[in-house]
Amino acid sequence: MLIKFPSALILLFSVQSAASLSLFHIAREDVKASADYTQDDLFKSTILNVTNTYRKQHNATALKWNDTLADFAEDWSKKCNFEHSGGPNGENLSSGYPNASQSIIAWGHERVDYDFKKGEFDHETGHFTQLVWKKTSSVGCGRTECDGEGEGKAPGWFVVCEYYPRGNVVGNFVENVQEQVPEEEQPEGPSDPDVPEQEPDAPKECPQGGDCSAGTRLGLNGQALEKVTMCMIVRYP
Ligand SMILES: *[C@@H]1O[C@H](CO)[C@@H](O)[C@H](O)[C@H]1NC(C)=O
Ligand SMILES: *[C@@H]1O[C@H](CO)[C@@H](O)[C@H](O)[C@H]1NC(C)=O
Ligand SMILES: *[C@@H]1O[C@H](CO)[C@@H](O)[C@H](O)[C@H]1NC(C)=O
Ligand SMILES: *[C@@H]1O[C@H](CO)[C@@H](O)[C@H](O)[C@H]1NC(C)=O
Ligand SMILES: *[C@@H]1O[C@H](CO)[C@@H](O)[C@H](O)[C@H]1NC(C)=O
Repeated sequence: MLIKFPSALILLFSVQSAASLSLFHIAREDVKASADYTQDDLFKSTILNVTNTYRKQHNATALKWNDTLADFAEDWSKKCNFEHSGGPNGENLSSGYPNASQSIIAWGHERVDYDFKKGEFDHETGHFTQLVWKKTSSVGCGRTECDGEGEGKAPGWFVVCEYYPRGNVVGNFVENVQEQVPEEEQPEGPSDPDVPEQEPDAPKECPQGGDCSAGTRLGLNGQALEKVTMCMIVRYP
């Protein structure tokens, strides 16, 4: 199994602590890159459709594509460093998802853990809150297929999205991140069929955005520790 799929060595980082590093070998077919990664038009329309479907559900107006942000994001993605750019805009990163649609859905799925009444920033829900942040009006994303080789390098398709004006402004969460509203009260606009209207009760280890597969968790000496069900979702800061 491991010999058959040498390209599937994946690093899994916990969101909270990059130090709790585990190594996984995952059995999966070597798949052809998804068209929504390789074709510019499809990438852009997928990002907009999926993002705006979440926004609509949470009563935020649709984002427009911003080429300045997209150029910045594309440049940053090319470095393949799985870390924030430190730029002036809102920025979400993901890496290792099978297609662009799933890269965004992984962020949207964080809404299951968000406390709308409290309205606070949390690393576990920060992608979602930026995604649907009402005052944000434009987005631009870029992506690069990275090999994950080297410390801190992004594994697989690395998606970088920039948001303007930036969201996650402390003190402004309650008015910017609204609970899901009923369909008849949502702003106009198409809904992407990949985005669930209601999140399923999936186990937390395999959020809806993930492509769950069986894998074997390895100890540091390469010894197999346990069989796990895990996700192709790799890590996202
Ligand atoms: C995005 O939505 C538009 C409008 O509904 C649709 O025409 C287009 O095919 C969608 N694109 C993708 C990639 O789903
Ligand atoms: C949606 O948001 C707008 C503006 O933020 C607000 O006026 C409206 O009442 C909201 N709709 C619902 C159903 O909460
Ligand atoms: C696009 O983003 C830039 C920030 O990089 C911002 O200055 C500009 O106003 C944005 N354009 C639109 C139409 O939102
Ligand atoms: C993206 O990948 C997921 C998981 O493999 C799949 O269910 C979904 O249909 C794909 N979506 C698109 C638009 O390719
Ligand atoms: C996602 O984007 C927001 C907005 O820039 C940023 O504050 C946050 O750190 C990013 N990641 C997470 C996990 O919140």
